[in-house]
Amino acid sequence: MLEIKGDFPIFSDNKLCYLDSASSAQKPKCVIEEINNSYAHAYANIHRGVYPLSIEATERFEHTRNVVQHFINAASTKEIVFTKGATEAINLVAYSWGMTNVKPNDSVVVSILEHHSNFVPWQRLCEKQNAAFVCVKLESDHTLSAESVARAITKKTKLLAITYLSNGLGIKTPIKDIIKIAHDAGSLVLVDAAQAVAHCPIDVQDLDCDFLVFSAHKIYGPAGVGALYAKEALLEAMPPFLSGGDMIRSVSETCTTLNDLPHKFEAGTPDMIGVAAFAKALQYVNDLGWQNIVVTEQLLVKRLEEVLLRKDKIKVLGPIGQHHGLVSFVAKNIHHHDLAQLLSKYGVCVRAGHHCAQPLINYLGYEGSIRASVGAYNTVEDIDRFQEALEKALSFF
Ligand code: ALA
Repeated sequence: MLEIKGDFPIFSDNKLCYLDSASSAQKPKCVIEEINNSYAHAYANIHRGVYPLSIEATERFEHTRNVVQHFINAASTKEIVFTKGATEAINLVAYSWGMTNVKPNDSVVVSILEHHSNFVPWQRLCEKQNAAFVCVKLESDHTLSAESVARAITKKTKLLAITYLSNGLGIKTPIKDIIKIAHDAGSLVLVDAAQAVAHCPIDVQDLDCDFLVFSAHKIYGPAGVGALYAKEALLEAMPPFLSGGDMIRSVSETCTTLNDLPHKFEAGTPDMIGVAAFAKALQYVNDLGWQNIVVTEQLLVKRLEEVLLRKDKIKVLGPIGQHHGLVSFVAKNIHHHDLAQLLSKYGVCVRAGHHCAQPLINYLGYEGSIRASVGAYNTVEDIDRFQEALEKALSFF
């Protein structure tokens, strides 16, 4: 069991019981120091300067690309595009690849588990292109089966856009099986790894996915930075998403030629400092070790399930024993916001609402739920504090 709260300045006064890492994770000292030091001592624009400060800033930025490449086992740094986050990465694919490749009567398949960011861009693309937007539902135990994904995919399917780990239910999808099913039918696959990335190792070559997206802020890195992985041949064939500086090789009044990968997709001055700090976050996770993270989080999630299952008024969403990183629940006759607000009075931070997964929550028959989620820094004492606060809150209603 990890004991790493000391690495996170926000926990220094021991008052915070933070169970909302699925929304955004807290930052370790190494990430905060990288941001502070870079702005204080090493700030310059990248890919432009010939002076040492700019060259160093460029090297730090490109070093992160290397770290991300190895973190998800991509074949090349050309396959790693920096974005503002998972949302921008998905929009990039929807506009660049989608507008070129999805034609009338084609289909894009998603699941009901999707976060809005992996739902709305495809819904809008399909509306624009007169394509079918197909949404796969869950089994009676609220898991997603490979068979139901297989039934939704046809010869007309151009893309399966699917989460690896649901931010609403905390369940994993049978990701490797469904990628194979989609490929066998001739469809590409985009994996939304925004939740999964902080909870399990990801290997894009083993998955054989075509696109994979995630944000830095959910894996202890800065907000406003994320990554798109895409197979090199796909990126080569795709037109740019945003146009401007850095994505060009040459510009004249009559014509513009495009920069090499991955810069073709990185127009404008990026968040250089955030990208540099992203590497620190991933190195921090590597140093903790996946085995330690998974064991710690599974123990905490099991305890969360046990606490919730003991309460008559509480219904846990999703199959018991299959939650990863989070447990979502509703309380009989108590509005999710009221309960979450009362928990916050006792210092416990949880998220309440539809978790940007409104189709899922409505499909389950609710307007919202309460979600307690853990990071590698949470402890058994946090779950005990949650239990105490929950008992007090429930007795109030
Ligand atoms: N995607 C974030 C969540 O699940 C904001 O809460």
